[in-house]
Amino acid sequence: MGEELNDSFSSRIDNSIDDHLIHDVSFVEIEHPLSSDITDTDAKPRRLFDIPHSLPTKQGLARIVTVTNQKGGVGKTTSVINIATHLAMRGARVLVVDCDAQGNCASGLGIDKSKTKITTKDVILTPSISIQARHATAVEGLHLIVGDHNLVGVEESLSAQLGRERRLVEALATLRPHYDLILIDTAPSMSIVSVNALTASDGILIPVQTEYLALEGVALLMGTIQEVRRLLNNSLGVDAVIMTMHSPTLLNTQVAGHLRETFGDLVLEPPIRRNIRLAESPSQGVPIQFHAPQSHGGQDYSLLSSELEALWFPGGLNNE
Ligand SMILES: Nc1ncnc2c1ncn2[C@@H]1O[C@H](COP(=O)(O)OP(=O)(O)O)[C@@H](O)[C@H]1O
Ligand SMILES: [Mg+2]
Repeated sequence: MGEELNDSFSSRIDNSIDDHLIHDVSFVEIEHPLSSDITDTDAKPRRLFDIPHSLPTKQGLARIVTVTNQKGGVGKTTSVINIATHLAMRGARVLVVDCDAQGNCASGLGIDKSKTKITTKDVILTPSISIQARHATAVEGLHLIVGDHNLVGVEESLSAQLGRERRLVEALATLRPHYDLILIDTAPSMSIVSVNALTASDGILIPVQTEYLALEGVALLMGTIQEVRRLLNNSLGVDAVIMTMHSPTLLNTQVAGHLRETFGDLVLEPPIRRNIRLAESPSQGVPIQFHAPQSHGGQDYSLLSSELEALWFPGGLNNE
């Protein structure tokens, strides 16, 4: 058996000598049966993704977490606003950095962004002004650096700059000792601004809608995470996957099951149910905890945020 394989193996190599730089997929596949000491195990099917886990927060510094998914409308901004609010209400010092040009964190947290002077775009272009860029919000203990449409031009402004991926690292370095958590909201596209967010982060939170094709954007994101780890931030890892806009239909339940199979312990419970109160609270300028805390959305975000509190602050919050 071994000899047979060796023969077919060498003929493959001979045939491909001219094209020795081309990866032959069947060549790679045949490698494993060659080793004689492989025993049968009850191994599960291979994971779809190679998922790097994150490391614990460094002592005395805020945990920096980017909320991202390259798919739009999956509940990123809603999650940022409500998780940040819950943790601030628990006594954490929280800063939200809105890295999306849509700038929806501002209205969701009761801020009129047309009245703000210094925004995320300025912070990325001039990291030293990050301290002056913070705004108090409707929630005590929760501050915001406002994102707005000007972020669209950042890509061009930074194109010729050295170290353009590390602007946010620099900007947050001065703020980090003063917060427990810095939560970064991102746009669905993987722009230089999103790369800055990932480069500055300890962990990633991935909201995934429990709908058909839910994993499409996630596959893309995993590739991006690996690239950022390789080139810019080798301690970046996934903190958790959160299931959003969940309805009790068969399809949603199947997708939730698939997500749990794919991501294992990284999937946080409970899924956030689809709930009109969550959709309407930004128009009131307050998070769900103020608008309708007892609604399904309010309850789900509260439970989910408690899970995140345990994950991010295993020794408890300092201010308790
Ligand atoms: N669980 C939910 N139930 C109902 N509507 C939701 C829920 N989560 C988010 N929404 C609404 O869906 C839309 C997209 O959510 P958003 O958080 O802005 O997504 P993203 O930031 O990923 O683009 C918004 O109008 C938001 O209010
Ligand atoms: Mg958003």
